Amino acid sequence: MDIAVIGTGYVGLVSGVCFAEVGNNVICVDHDEQKIEKLQNLISPIYEPGIEQLMEKNLNAGRLAFTADLAQAISQSELIIIAVGTPSLPNGEANLAYIEQAAMEIGKAMNSYKIIATKSTVPVGTNEHIQMIIAMNTLQSFDVVSIPEFLREGSAIDDTLHPDRIVLGIENPSLAAPLTELHRSFTDQIFVTSIRSAEMIKYASNAFLATKISFINEISNICEKVGADVTEVAKGMGQDKRIGSSFLSAGIGYGGSCFPKDTDALIQIAGNVDYEFQLLKSVVEVNKSQRYKVISKLEASLGPLSGKSVGIWGLSFKPNTDDIRYAPSIEIVETLIRAGARLKLYDPIAMEKFKERIDHPAIQWCENALEAATGSDAICLLTDWEEFKAVPLSQLIFVMEQPILIDGRNVFSKEQVQGTGLKYYSVGRPDLIGASRPKALAR
Ligand SMILES: NC(=O)c1ccc[n+]([C@@H]2O[C@H](COP(=O)([O-])OP(=O)(O)OC[C@H]3O[C@@H](n4cnc5c(N)ncnc54)[C@H](O)[C@@H]3O)[C@@H](O)[C@H]2O)c1
Repeated sequence: MDIAVIGTGYVGLVSGVCFAEVGNNVICVDHDEQKIEKLQNLISPIYEPGIEQLMEKNLNAGRLAFTADLAQAISQSELIIIAVGTPSLPNGEANLAYIEQAAMEIGKAMNSYKIIATKSTVPVGTNEHIQMIIAMNTLQSFDVVSIPEFLREGSAIDDTLHPDRIVLGIENPSLAAPLTELHRSFTDQIFVTSIRSAEMIKYASNAFLATKISFINEISNICEKVGADVTEVAKGMGQDKRIGSSFLSAGIGYGGSCFPKDTDALIQIAGNVDYEFQLLKSVVEVNKSQRYKVISKLEASLGPLSGKSVGIWGLSFKPNTDDIRYAPSIEIVETLIRAGARLKLYDPIAMEKFKERIDHPAIQWCENALEAATGSDAICLLTDWEEFKAVPLSQLIFVMEQPILIDGRNVFSKEQVQGTGLKYYSVGRPDLIGASRPKALAR
């Protein structure tokens, strides 16, 4: 198929490249000309493992192109995929300004029949709104379908090429066959439903996953008080097929560009039809407070934080991405700065994006995990990058001012920590207070 993808962010770029990879002709459009220039030079504006290699392969094969010229992209394509952002408004509702703009531009540029597929996460009823905007701007015939996206940053290419399922929200039955055929290169698990149900499936899926995370985080808080180990509890729970083991890792809560905004939006969607989604409201509240556990553990082990030096390992909301949107690290760093701490920050990939968001004289930017630990009174691990798992813990006592490690992602096992002399605090697991050697002796 000839496909245009509008928006070259985490979803649009990966989708476009993967549709090209399976043999379609794809033109990716963005109104950000700097992004397009980078892409044309085979530089990805986002960090996603494997993306640049696939871009190069498909560009060289003549199946992939990038442009800022939306009208040209629309005119040469049969299928138009909308993958622009739908960030939160201050009241939690999805901001549809980018969607509305894209719909208007599509309508104006249409020169023949087109299928318009919405991949952006949009509230129930939005595709009807899109249909109306396009109709107001064109005399051509067209269909609007909903194809919500479920990829995860960090494993987005594999998720797109091998998804668990594709959801097709369709009102015109004649589109089921060609769109099923298009997606069969990715999977046979294709679920065809109405547009409103497809829109809801996306929000319900994210809300359910967020619920699992907040649930295990609450269990972890209870584990700490009753002396149980949440990783053992989760393992024992997850072996029950009805529960499943995924999304049962306790930690400092979820972040990223999807769960926080999509849970807020679903609460609003429910509220708009006079339904109070009590359960999801609690999920959001639990998530908001969970990140502050890091601060309370720091205060409990260090006392007042003013003047203390704290090393931070990890800033992105999860490993293998540079995305810091709604990352727990933002509030943790801001709180520590307000408390008067000096910070040594390190992340393998996300430092540039974080610096654009927060730069402060209290922050020292470090080049590796060990540098962030050196001279620190404590380290807080906020993102479970593989790199941190490989840090030789027994060295920390020699470089840190005080050997305190707060592991917000339960990265290290008891066996790895024992014998290192560290005072180790994790989430929902017993503290490990090593026999800390006097620093002079350690050195
Ligand atoms: N990021 C994820 O992991 C993920 C996963 C599933 C679904 N989603 C959903 O997909 C959508 C996109 O998310 P994202 O993370 O890729 O967003 P993003 O902010 O990374 O990218 C959006 C892109 O759209 C471009 N854009 C906006 N308006 C445009 C217009 N009128 N014409 C051309 N380009 C335009 C922007 O310049 C930007 O490059 C959102 O609705 C999100 O909820 C995201």
